[in-house]
Amino acid sequence: MVEEVKRKKMFEPEKFIQKQVQEVRERIGAGKAVIAVSGGVDSTVCAVLTHRAVGDRLVAAFIDDGLMREGEAEQVINFFEARNMNARRVDAADEFFAALKGIVDPEEKRKAFRNTFYSVLARVVREENADCLVQGTIAADVAETVKGIKTQHNILEQIGIDPGSYGLTIVEPLREIYKHEVREVARSLEVPAEFSERPPFPGPGLATRVLGEVTPERVEIERRATKIVEEETADVESCQSMAVLMNDRATGIREGKRAYGYIIVVRLVKSKDAITAEAVNVPLEGLKRIDKRITREIPEVVHVLYSLTKKPPATIEFQ
Ligand code: XMP
Repeated sequence: MVEEVKRKKMFEPEKFIQKQVQEVRERIGAGKAVIAVSGGVDSTVCAVLTHRAVGDRLVAAFIDDGLMREGEAEQVINFFEARNMNARRVDAADEFFAALKGIVDPEEKRKAFRNTFYSVLARVVREENADCLVQGTIAADVAETVKGIKTQHNILEQIGIDPGSYGLTIVEPLREIYKHEVREVARSLEVPAEFSERPPFPGPGLATRVLGEVTPERVEIERRATKIVEEETADVESCQSMAVLMNDRATGIREGKRAYGYIIVVRLVKSKDAITAEAVNVPLEGLKRIDKRITREIPEVVHVLYSLTKKPPATIEFQ
């Protein structure tokens, strides 16, 4: 804790930016680089910082994996285009769904996601004639993957995979800093609040919040529930606010008849560092409003629950 406070006081975003711009410039040299951007603060900061270093020699690729929230792809592309950066949308949803087909184990899903992600990205790198891949890996990603808690999708070397086997040189300017420091850097770079203050969203997207098989139909139900939860909790103080689609079903009633429908869990957490977290005290009236909207607007869902468990023993996401 003392260490953390000391570190927080000592962190100077302007100096960090200066140092990293220079280092990134040296590492990329005269070549071309690609960064996969998701709209999350880490990849956004990394892209803006790298653009400062190498300008148009950076391509910001938004890989549309079919697992993003509603409107996210457009929002991200618009942001980069407005900054006159080279931005490219890569439609790869079919590839991701094919890779995830039939898989129910959470770690297997993460691995299938990661393999598809890197094979699509390596293709983009080849198409762009780039030799460098810039990634927004931060210190916490490295720590959790090394400890074996979850396989983060953007960690390679730490888990013994040689980036060379994907034909890429990896540049990770944020790997020594933590989320609150990344946000400080974002503010210094004048990244708008919708990105600099954006709550974390997992790399494998809505796949992390669909328990059991990840199919386009199940992701669509999850996406609609996510939208409702995010809209209804916009004013509630939390670090993350999510809907999770369960793998099991529950008996319900639709139009007077038995309906065996989906179950959605709503989870809102407060957390300082994502290493521990606790459930937010959402007023029951608010929860009932979410329940009413989900069960009305998504007829496939017949039951809505609220998650109470702290991290640990739970994790923030369900898988
Ligand atoms: P858990 O669920 O492990 O999550 O308590 C801790 C934090 O990390 C986010 N998360 C991810 N972020 N790629 C990411 O970029 C991932 O694979 C991933 N998995 C979890 C999660 O949303 C939370 O903020």
